[in-house]
Amino acid sequence: MDYLEFFDLKEDPFRLTPDLDFIYPSKSHNEALSSFNYMVEQKEGFFMCIGDPGTGKTTLLNTFLKTEKWKDRAGIALVLTPRLSPEEFLLTVLEDLNVKVKNTNKNEIIRAFRDFLIENSMIGRRIIIIVDEAQNLPDETLEELRLLSNLETEKEKLLQIVLIGQPELRGRLLSDNLKQLNQRITVRATLMPLTMNETSDYINYRLAKAGKGTVIFEEKAKKLIYRLSKGIPRLINLISSRAMMAAYLDMSRYVRKRHVMYAVKHVSDSFIKTTRRIVTFPRIIVYSIMVCLIAATLIVMNRVKEQETISLSNEHKASSIERRAPDTENTTYNAQRTTHNAVVAVDAANVRAKPSLNSEKIESVSKETALEIIDEFTETTGMKWYKVKMPDGKEGWIADKTVKIEQQSNRPVEQ
Ligand SMILES: Nc1ncnc2c1ncn2[C@@H]1O[C@H](COP(=O)(O)OP(=O)(O)OP(=O)(O)O)[C@@H](O)[C@H]1O
Ligand SMILES: [Mg+2]
Repeated sequence: MDYLEFFDLKEDPFRLTPDLDFIYPSKSHNEALSSFNYMVEQKEGFFMCIGDPGTGKTTLLNTFLKTEKWKDRAGIALVLTPRLSPEEFLLTVLEDLNVKVKNTNKNEIIRAFRDFLIENSMIGRRIIIIVDEAQNLPDETLEELRLLSNLETEKEKLLQIVLIGQPELRGRLLSDNLKQLNQRITVRATLMPLTMNETSDYINYRLAKAGKGTVIFEEKAKKLIYRLSKGIPRLINLISSRAMMAAYLDMSRYVRKRHVMYAVKHVSDSFIKTTRRIVTFPRIIVYSIMVCLIAATLIVMNRVKEQETISLSNEHKASSIERRAPDTENTTYNAQRTTHNAVVAVDAANVRAKPSLNSEKIESVSKETALEIIDEFTETTGMKWYKVKMPDGKEGWIADKTVKIEQQSNRPVEQ
């Protein structure tokens, strides 16, 4: 028994073909379709429809093309491979519209096209150029489209242009050299991903269209499909069909959450390929972010190193609690220096090799001994240590709690 038989379905409910029977009228799809029809009805010059990959732009276009209303009332040039130079683009359009040109001289082409547009306008037939994947149109071809849209009579536009593409198209039209075209786009629509409720409806809708059968997607499974697909129909199809396959292998008529998980694991390659188009940033941005991250890491590492150097190995520097005049002034005199002494406040205090109670004891110093402070360090526990020079010149670390601090001022010394 095969998969469809097992679920008692007539056909695959989630196949990725633009089958009009399977078109689910989501809110966003309906709104975009209304805008499309309105634009043609009102003879608006430009319509732009934007949507992320897989949200149903081409599906929307197919729905429009099948609209009975325009079948005999419009001539449509459909450009599906828009990486064309202005001349190639024009010739493709004319060929699609069945306009004969005697030679390929650009002026000649435009003249023939204008005549064709006027003839059609006189019989009330609309001429529409529709470009799918319009984000791939070169700038010069977009500019050519703007020039074509200038073809109009005193009363009305002779040509209507529809651009369908991914969000980067909108970004491109904001650039300085395309803003004139952008200003002419009077009708716009955006295809949004499905909501959670729509995703659930969409799955049921497509199952019903495929013959309903006996398969049941559990609520939790649908929620997971929504989370993973973010409501993008192409991804919903991909995950749902694999999840059904997993349920079939399990001999289960219920598609459960675990089947969806299994599906995602096993579609990961194609899933990643499809989603990559949604989340991919231009390489330059990725590289810039990487460079910034590396630079930030280096700066932080440097800071940490500096901190460690200041705290732990200050042997060649003056004491951190000794304030110096700027170097420039230092060349003429030593500024007033304030040094601090640690005077032992307990009967006997230990001086250690390192600022830690676990460190080796170097010496025991008696009460009232004055020690010159040359550095200080605070442990993460909050315990503070002073690095001190003892009267015999030896250096070591003494705990803050065993000493009291006294300040000593030295007068400037002229050089
Ligand atoms: N409204 C819808 N009803 C039913 N199926 C849909 C709908 N929208 C999209 N789909 C399904 O999702 C698939 C992808 O849709 P479509 O090819 O239209 O997306 P697209 O936005 O044109 O993507 P791309 O940017 O990659 O060209 C279709 O094959 C179809 O199966
Ligand atoms: Mg498409």
